[in-house]
Amino acid sequence: MEGVDERVLRYVEEHLKGEKVSGLDHSLRVLRWCERLAEGRDVDLEALRLAALLHDVSIPKSGRLRHYDVSADMAVELLRELGYDEVKIRAVEHCIRAHSRYGGPDPQTAEAEILYDADFLDYLGAIGLLRGILRALVEGEYSGDVSEAPMVLEAIIAKYRRPLYTEEARRIAEGRLRFLESFLKRLREELEFKA
Ligand SMILES: [Fe+2]
Ligand SMILES: [Fe+2]
Repeated sequence: MEGVDERVLRYVEEHLKGEKVSGLDHSLRVLRWCERLAEGRDVDLEALRLAALLHDVSIPKSGRLRHYDVSADMAVELLRELGYDEVKIRAVEHCIRAHSRYGGPDPQTAEAEILYDADFLDYLGAIGLLRGILRALVEGEYSGDVSEAPMVLEAIIAKYRRPLYTEEARRIAEGRLRFLESFLKRLREELEFKA
């Protein structure tokens, strides 16, 4: 894969094996969005790509709680082993610690802002809908009863109304939110036997 350290890709693949919601597919989509959002900007693309690949790497072992810190620790250890320089490692580390909506510091660098936005986009739209339902099922917050799905979707929409850093991510997020809202409306109509 172009621009990607294959050793890091293999490490992520290995650690995310079996992960259902934030698996390798999620990390690779986040990587693609990071590249898109970075276009025309003066950023360290290498650090950004590494952070995108590694940002959720600990989830199967740490769970969602504080996964941003555990993933950052794992990334630092791996990148040291692979011989990356300390400046690069610190840049990646900050991106990962600051990427999550669950906690951690606010992004302080352009790279960290981009990763935050890229990760956020995967929680919205058709992809976000699937991942949100899947997450709620996997974490036992949702029974699978379709009549309860509107509540699950409302919670997703409410949670994800938050500021983003880059103009393009705001534009994409707006379209994705509109899709979620229209899906929710349609779902309610079907559940009320109106459509
Ligand atoms: Fe995350
Ligand atoms: Fe993520």
